[in-house]
Amino acid sequence: MAVIVVTGRGGAGKTTTTANLSTYLAMKEYRVLAVDGDLYLPNLGFHFALDTVKYTVHTLLKNPDIDPEWAIYKHKETGVYVMPGSTQLQDVLGISPKRLVDILEKVKYKFGVVFVDSPTGVPFDTLPTFQVANYQLIVVEIERSPIYSFETMVKNEIEKLKALGERYNLNIGVVLNKVRESADVVDKIIEAIEDDLNVPVLGWVPFDYNVPESINVGVPIVRYMSKSDAAIAFKEVGEVLEDWMFG
Ligand SMILES: Nc1ncnc2c1ncn2[C@@H]1O[C@H](COP(=O)(O)OP(=O)(O)OP(=O)(O)O)[C@@H](O)[C@H]1O
Ligand SMILES: [Mg+2]
Repeated sequence: MAVIVVTGRGGAGKTTTTANLSTYLAMKEYRVLAVDGDLYLPNLGFHFALDTVKYTVHTLLKNPDIDPEWAIYKHKETGVYVMPGSTQLQDVLGISPKRLVDILEKVKYKFGVVFVDSPTGVPFDTLPTFQVANYQLIVVEIERSPIYSFETMVKNEIEKLKALGERYNLNIGVVLNKVRESADVVDKIIEAIEDDLNVPVLGWVPFDYNVPESINVGVPIVRYMSKSDAAIAFKEVGEVLEDWMFG
Protein backbone atom coordinates (compact mmCIF):
# COMPACT_ATOMS: atom_id res chain seq x y z
CA MET A 1 0.00 0.00 0.00
CA ALA A 2 1.62 3.28 -1.05
CA VAL A 3 0.46 6.77 -0.21
CA ILE A 4 1.69 9.87 -2.05
CA VAL A 5 1.45 13.11 -0.09
CA VAL A 6 1.14 16.30 -2.15
CA THR A 7 0.27 19.99 -1.77
CA GLY A 8 -0.45 22.81 -4.17
CA ARG A 9 1.46 25.39 -2.20
CA GLY A 10 4.75 25.18 -0.36
CA GLY A 11 4.82 24.92 3.40
CA ALA A 12 1.27 23.56 3.76
CA GLY A 13 2.52 20.62 5.77
CA LYS A 14 3.20 17.65 3.48
CA THR A 15 6.28 16.58 5.30
CA THR A 16 4.73 17.10 8.74
CA THR A 17 1.68 15.09 7.65
CA THR A 18 3.85 12.32 6.16
CA ALA A 19 5.89 12.10 9.37
CA ASN A 20 2.88 12.05 11.69
CA LEU A 21 0.67 9.64 9.75
CA SER A 22 3.69 7.32 9.39
CA THR A 23 4.23 7.55 13.13
CA TYR A 24 0.57 6.94 13.91
CA LEU A 25 0.50 3.76 11.82
CA ALA A 26 3.89 2.55 13.10
CA MET A 27 2.61 2.95 16.66
CA LYS A 28 -0.31 0.74 15.64
CA GLU A 29 2.21 -1.95 14.69
CA TYR A 30 2.14 -1.45 10.93
CA ARG A 31 5.49 -1.74 9.20
CA VAL A 32 5.77 1.74 7.75
CA LEU A 33 8.33 3.24 5.41
CA ALA A 34 8.48 7.02 4.85
CA VAL A 35 10.41 8.02 1.73
CA ASP A 36 11.61 11.54 0.98
CA GLY A 37 10.49 12.13 -2.60
CA ASP A 38 11.16 15.87 -2.41
CA LEU A 39 14.46 15.38 -4.19
CA TYR A 40 15.55 19.01 -4.51
CA LEU A 41 14.58 20.28 -1.06
CA PRO A 42 14.38 17.15 1.05
CA ASN A 43 13.55 17.66 4.72
CA LEU A 44 11.80 14.51 5.88
CA GLY A 45 15.06 13.53 7.61
CA PHE A 46 14.80 16.53 9.96
CA HIS A 47 11.41 15.33 11.23
CA PHE A 48 13.09 12.12 12.40
CA ALA A 49 16.54 13.55 13.30
CA LEU A 50 17.99 11.59 10.38
CA ASP A 51 19.33 14.52 8.41
CA THR A 52 23.02 13.67 8.57
CA VAL A 53 23.01 10.00 7.64
CA LYS A 54 25.47 8.55 5.17
CA TYR A 55 23.19 6.76 2.70
CA THR A 56 20.12 8.52 1.34
CA VAL A 57 17.61 8.24 -1.47
CA HIS A 58 20.13 10.30 -3.47
CA THR A 59 22.82 7.66 -2.94
CA LEU A 60 20.44 5.11 -4.45
CA LEU A 61 19.51 7.34 -7.38
CA LYS A 62 23.18 7.84 -8.19
CA ASN A 63 24.24 4.22 -7.65
CA PRO A 64 21.61 1.77 -8.87
CA ASP A 65 23.70 -1.16 -7.63
CA ILE A 66 23.44 -0.19 -3.97
CA ASP A 67 20.91 -2.17 -1.95
CA PRO A 68 18.04 0.21 -1.02
CA GLU A 69 18.13 -1.24 2.51
CA TRP A 70 21.30 0.76 3.13
CA ALA A 71 19.31 3.99 2.95
CA ILE A 72 16.52 2.82 5.28
CA TYR A 73 16.83 3.71 8.96
CA LYS A 74 14.55 2.68 11.79
CA HIS A 75 13.63 5.72 13.89
CA LYS A 76 13.86 4.43 17.42
CA GLU A 77 11.30 6.68 19.12
CA THR A 78 8.51 5.80 16.67
CA GLY A 79 9.47 2.60 14.86
CA VAL A 80 9.01 4.28 11.47
CA TYR A 81 11.45 3.17 8.76
CA VAL A 82 12.73 6.28 7.03
CA MET A 83 14.50 6.76 3.70
CA PRO A 84 15.77 10.33 4.01
CA GLY A 85 17.11 12.58 1.26
CA SER A 86 20.42 14.35 1.16
CA THR A 87 20.60 18.10 1.68
CA GLN A 88 24.07 18.30 0.11
CA LEU A 89 24.14 20.19 -3.18
CA GLN A 90 26.61 17.78 -4.78
CA ASP A 91 24.26 14.86 -4.07
CA VAL A 92 21.26 16.60 -5.57
CA LEU A 93 22.90 17.69 -8.83
CA GLY A 94 22.89 15.16 -11.63
CA ILE A 95 20.42 12.65 -10.20
CA SER A 96 17.78 10.87 -12.29
CA PRO A 97 14.56 11.46 -10.34
CA LYS A 98 12.59 9.13 -12.57
CA ARG A 99 14.41 6.16 -11.05
CA LEU A 100 12.72 6.75 -7.69
CA VAL A 101 9.93 4.49 -8.89
CA ASP A 102 12.40 1.60 -9.33
CA ILE A 103 13.52 2.01 -5.74
CA LEU A 104 9.91 1.98 -4.55
CA GLU A 105 9.19 -1.15 -6.57
CA LYS A 106 12.13 -2.88 -4.87
CA VAL A 107 11.18 -2.04 -1.28
CA LYS A 108 7.41 -1.73 -1.40
CA TYR A 109 6.55 -5.35 -0.73
CA LYS A 110 8.56 -5.35 2.52
CA PHE A 111 6.26 -2.80 4.17
CA GLY A 112 2.59 -2.63 5.05
CA VAL A 113 2.45 1.05 4.14
CA VAL A 114 4.86 3.28 2.21
CA PHE A 115 4.48 7.06 2.36
CA VAL A 116 6.13 9.23 -0.27
CA ASP A 117 6.60 12.90 0.63
CA SER A 118 6.46 14.86 -2.65
CA PRO A 119 7.77 18.18 -3.88
CA THR A 120 5.33 21.12 -3.87
CA GLY A 121 2.83 21.47 -6.69
CA VAL A 122 2.54 18.97 -9.49
CA PRO A 123 5.49 16.68 -8.75
CA PHE A 124 6.66 16.36 -12.36
CA ASP A 125 9.99 14.77 -11.46
CA THR A 126 8.48 12.04 -9.35
CA LEU A 127 5.27 11.44 -11.28
CA PRO A 128 6.24 7.85 -12.13
CA THR A 129 5.90 7.06 -8.40
CA PHE A 130 2.15 7.54 -8.86
CA GLN A 131 2.14 4.31 -10.85
CA VAL A 132 3.00 2.27 -7.77
CA ALA A 133 0.72 4.21 -5.42
CA ASN A 134 -2.80 3.51 -4.24
CA TYR A 135 -3.62 6.68 -2.33
CA GLN A 136 -2.99 10.38 -2.74
CA LEU A 137 -3.31 12.74 0.20
CA ILE A 138 -3.67 16.41 -0.68
CA VAL A 139 -2.59 18.62 2.22
CA VAL A 140 -4.18 22.06 2.14
CA GLU A 141 -3.39 25.07 4.25
CA ILE A 142 -6.28 27.45 4.56
CA GLU A 143 -5.40 31.08 4.94
CA ARG A 144 -7.52 33.11 7.29
CA SER A 145 -9.78 34.30 4.51
CA PRO A 146 -13.41 34.78 3.69
CA ILE A 147 -15.11 31.82 2.15
CA TYR A 148 -15.32 33.39 -1.35
CA SER A 149 -11.56 33.76 -1.75
CA PHE A 150 -11.12 30.28 -0.37
CA GLU A 151 -13.36 28.99 -3.11
CA THR A 152 -11.30 30.46 -5.91
CA MET A 153 -7.89 29.71 -4.43
CA VAL A 154 -8.14 26.40 -2.70
CA LYS A 155 -10.70 24.64 -4.86
CA ASN A 156 -8.56 25.31 -7.91
CA GLU A 157 -5.55 23.85 -6.15
CA ILE A 158 -7.39 20.71 -5.04
CA GLU A 159 -9.05 20.29 -8.42
CA LYS A 160 -5.72 20.11 -10.25
CA LEU A 161 -4.11 17.67 -7.86
CA LYS A 162 -7.26 15.57 -7.81
CA ALA A 163 -7.23 15.36 -11.62
CA LEU A 164 -3.64 14.18 -11.40
CA GLY A 165 -4.44 11.43 -8.89
CA GLU A 166 -7.43 10.31 -10.93
CA ARG A 167 -5.23 9.84 -13.96
CA TYR A 168 -3.37 7.21 -11.95
CA ASN A 169 -6.53 5.73 -10.44
CA LEU A 170 -5.56 6.73 -6.92
CA ASN A 171 -7.94 6.98 -3.99
CA ILE A 172 -7.85 10.65 -3.10
CA GLY A 173 -8.35 12.41 0.22
CA VAL A 174 -7.76 15.89 1.60
CA VAL A 175 -6.19 16.88 4.93
CA LEU A 176 -6.56 20.48 6.10
CA ASN A 177 -3.56 21.67 8.08
CA LYS A 178 -2.48 24.73 10.12
CA VAL A 179 -6.14 25.56 10.63
CA ARG A 180 -6.74 28.76 12.62
CA GLU A 181 -10.37 29.21 11.63
CA SER A 182 -13.26 28.48 13.95
CA ALA A 183 -15.07 25.15 13.73
CA ASP A 184 -18.10 26.54 11.87
CA VAL A 185 -15.90 28.08 9.16
CA VAL A 186 -13.98 24.79 8.86
CA ASP A 187 -17.24 22.89 8.52
CA LYS A 188 -18.28 25.13 5.62
CA ILE A 189 -14.92 24.63 3.94
CA ILE A 190 -15.15 20.85 4.32
CA GLU A 191 -18.66 20.90 2.93
CA ALA A 192 -17.53 22.93 -0.10
CA ILE A 193 -14.67 20.51 -0.81
CA GLU A 194 -16.74 17.37 -0.37
CA ASP A 195 -19.86 18.54 -2.17
CA ASP A 196 -18.42 20.62 -5.00
CA LEU A 197 -15.19 18.76 -5.68
CA ASN A 198 -16.44 15.36 -4.62
CA VAL A 199 -13.36 14.42 -2.64
CA PRO A 200 -13.42 13.29 1.00
CA VAL A 201 -11.75 15.36 3.73
CA LEU A 202 -10.07 12.91 6.11
CA GLY A 203 -9.73 15.52 8.83
CA TRP A 204 -8.20 18.80 9.87
CA VAL A 205 -5.24 19.73 12.02
CA PRO A 206 -5.09 23.03 13.93
CA PHE A 207 -2.17 25.41 13.82
CA ASP A 208 -0.12 24.44 16.88
CA TYR A 209 3.20 25.93 17.98
CA ASN A 210 4.25 22.53 19.32
CA VAL A 211 4.61 21.28 15.74
CA PRO A 212 7.80 23.24 14.90
CA GLU A 213 9.17 22.28 18.31
CA SER A 214 8.64 18.58 17.60
CA ILE A 215 10.49 18.97 14.28
CA ASN A 216 13.42 20.60 16.11
CA VAL A 217 13.56 17.60 18.41
CA GLY A 218 13.22 15.13 15.53
CA VAL A 219 10.21 13.26 16.90
CA PRO A 220 6.82 13.72 15.14
CA ILE A 221 4.28 15.42 17.37
CA VAL A 222 1.91 12.44 17.71
CA ARG A 223 4.74 10.76 19.61
CA TYR A 224 6.55 13.81 21.03
CA MET A 225 3.57 15.55 22.57
CA SER A 226 0.70 13.14 22.18
CA LYS A 227 -1.82 15.29 24.09
CA SER A 228 -1.26 18.47 22.09
CA ASP A 229 -4.05 19.71 19.81
CA ALA A 230 -2.13 18.90 16.62
CA ALA A 231 -1.22 15.41 17.86
CA ILE A 232 -4.82 14.58 18.73
CA ALA A 233 -5.92 15.82 15.30
CA PHE A 234 -3.21 13.90 13.42
CA LYS A 235 -4.23 10.75 15.31
CA GLU A 236 -7.85 11.28 14.25
CA VAL A 237 -6.76 11.69 10.63
CA GLY A 238 -4.60 8.57 11.03
CA GLU A 239 -7.58 6.61 12.31
CA VAL A 240 -9.68 7.62 9.30
CA LEU A 241 -6.81 6.77 6.95
CA GLU A 242 -6.28 3.39 8.58
CA ASP A 243 -9.96 2.60 8.28
CA TRP A 244 -9.95 3.77 4.68
CA MET A 245 -6.96 1.61 3.76
CA PHE A 246 -7.51 -1.48 5.88
CA GLY A 247 -11.01 -1.14 7.32
N1 LIG B 1 -0.28 22.09 12.27
C1 LIG B 1 0.77 22.91 12.29
N2 LIG B 1 0.87 23.90 13.20
C2 LIG B 1 1.92 24.74 13.21
N3 LIG B 1 2.95 24.67 12.37
C3 LIG B 1 2.92 23.70 11.44
C4 LIG B 1 1.86 22.77 11.35
N4 LIG B 1 2.13 21.92 10.32
C5 LIG B 1 3.32 22.30 9.80
N5 LIG B 1 3.80 23.38 10.47
C6 LIG B 1 5.04 24.12 10.20
O1 LIG B 1 5.00 24.60 8.87
C7 LIG B 1 6.25 24.47 8.24
C8 LIG B 1 6.07 23.75 6.92
O2 LIG B 1 5.64 22.42 7.16
P1 LIG B 1 6.12 21.23 6.23
O3 LIG B 1 7.58 21.30 6.05
O4 LIG B 1 5.51 20.00 6.74
O5 LIG B 1 5.39 21.66 4.88
P2 LIG B 1 5.67 21.13 3.41
O6 LIG B 1 4.38 21.22 2.69
O7 LIG B 1 6.34 19.82 3.46
O8 LIG B 1 6.66 22.25 2.89
P3 LIG B 1 7.65 22.21 1.64
O9 LIG B 1 6.85 22.81 0.54
O10 LIG B 1 8.78 23.09 2.08
O11 LIG B 1 8.03 20.79 1.40
C9 LIG B 1 7.17 23.74 9.22
O12 LIG B 1 8.05 24.67 9.77
C10 LIG B 1 6.24 23.20 10.29
O13 LIG B 1 6.82 23.33 11.55
MG1 LIG C 1 8.16 19.19 2.61
